[in-house]
Amino acid sequence: MKKKVAIITGASEGLGKAISIKLASKKYITVLASRDKKKLQNTSSDISKVNGEYFIIPTDITSEKNVKTLFSKASKLGKIELLINNAGVGTFNKVEEIKLKEWKKMIDVNLTGSFLCSKEAIIIMKKQKYGHILFLNSLSGKRVLPWGSGYSASKYGLKGFADTIRLELRKFNIKVTSIYPGSIDSTWWDKMNVDFPRSKMLNLDDVVDVIYNSISYKGRTVIEEVDLRQVGGDF
Ligand SMILES: NC(=O)c1ccc[n+]([C@@H]2O[C@H](COP(=O)([O-])OP(=O)(O)OC[C@H]3O[C@@H](n4cnc5c(N)ncnc54)[C@H](OP(=O)(O)O)[C@@H]3O)[C@@H](O)[C@H]2O)c1
Repeated sequence: MKKKVAIITGASEGLGKAISIKLASKKYITVLASRDKKKLQNTSSDISKVNGEYFIIPTDITSEKNVKTLFSKASKLGKIELLINNAGVGTFNKVEEIKLKEWKKMIDVNLTGSFLCSKEAIIIMKKQKYGHILFLNSLSGKRVLPWGSGYSASKYGLKGFADTIRLELRKFNIKVTSIYPGSIDSTWWDKMNVDFPRSKMLNLDDVVDVIYNSISYKGRTVIEEVDLRQVGGDF
């Protein structure tokens, strides 16, 4: 039997790193895809500690060439059962202060990068007659907050994309899941110039458990959407 392969974008830190370790501990060959090779090696050394299998493929998901190389290399490792579209970036500011470069980066990574990866996965999964594509969306993909115009635009777009391909892929036995979390205590917040209370955010391990559960039903059942919020309310 061919080995099961999971491709995780944004595997170098935060949620992507934690999901990769979990999947590796559950006997997936994990394909670690993001730009920073050194940080990907940190992820892989944690995977080794759980006796997991990994393959590092440095990838900028905004580059079609990089993404095609990623899938061509990954498909030689086994059956690509799972794509986790996790890589994401955010700039939060008053709309008139968001630079075009920052705006474009959010659209390019969060939306176009996920499109490019999903497209390659779908070509392979249709031939296999099975596959699962998961999107790390956000609370900001369903409701808006001030200063998040660009981020919400990219994540609402991602919701539209995921909801549409779910309909296209039903007859090919390809599952599509979107996760919509509120703030998660991850490395994301090390880069943000805000002092939101990390202790009130969603716990990273809880989010990883929810993601793993949502891809664990093997037969006809599919969890299509998960909303995850902190009990104390959003911020
Ligand atoms: N943290 C939160 O509060 C929160 C809440 C809701 C939703 N989310 C979503 O969850 C996902 C993961 O967030 P996180 O908290 O883990 O963030 P994070 O710690 O900042 O990690 C972001 C990841 O995205 C990767 N990335 C950025 N640009 C990339 C590109 N061009 N190509 C490939 N990879 C790229 C980074 O890797 P490299 O730098 O190595 O490329 C990094 O591994 C994102 O989609 C985010 O929108 C986060």
